[in-house]
Amino acid sequence: MIRICFVCLGNICRSPMALYVFKDLVKKEGLENDFFIESRGTCDDEIGNDMHPATKSMLDKHNIPYGEHHATRLLKSDYEKFDYFIGMDDYNVLSMEKLFGTNKKIYKLLDFTKNNKDINDPWYTHNFIITYDEIEKGCQSLLEFIRCKDK
Ligand code: 4NP
Repeated sequence: MIRICFVCLGNICRSPMALYVFKDLVKKEGLENDFFIESRGTCDDEIGNDMHPATKSMLDKHNIPYGEHHATRLLKSDYEKFDYFIGMDDYNVLSMEKLFGTNKKIYKLLDFTKNNKDINDPWYTHNFIITYDEIEKGCQSLLEFIRCKDK
């Protein structure tokens, strides 16, 4: 079982989007029983809240199923529950390194692609289309990375 936690700031836009995009990819490859996938945020502001409506619209547009969502804060005790913590930007990575006191298990999603840019935060850019495209590319590259590693 490979345990992945996608992490952003609020846990209402980018990390739940990545969670459902990655779940869908894994399901299409027939690998759903090999993965345990969740998402978290590093700040308190949105705790308990549903995904942003525009995040849901992007998932709907791409026929990606999703379930009920309640934004959840990343805790130090989460460290043992996952093998990979996948941040969306450098700030998420820094926050996780500070919380966990290590950089082991911590990655940034676009580090698995040819560029190592941050995923744009649509909370600030209001552009969910760019964010979706970046997340889809990152998730495909992440799955390839894990499959190569396991061979
Ligand atoms: P996310 O976007 O980190 O992609 O979920 C944000 C959502 C909410 C806030 C910041 C970023 N906020 O400050 O409430």
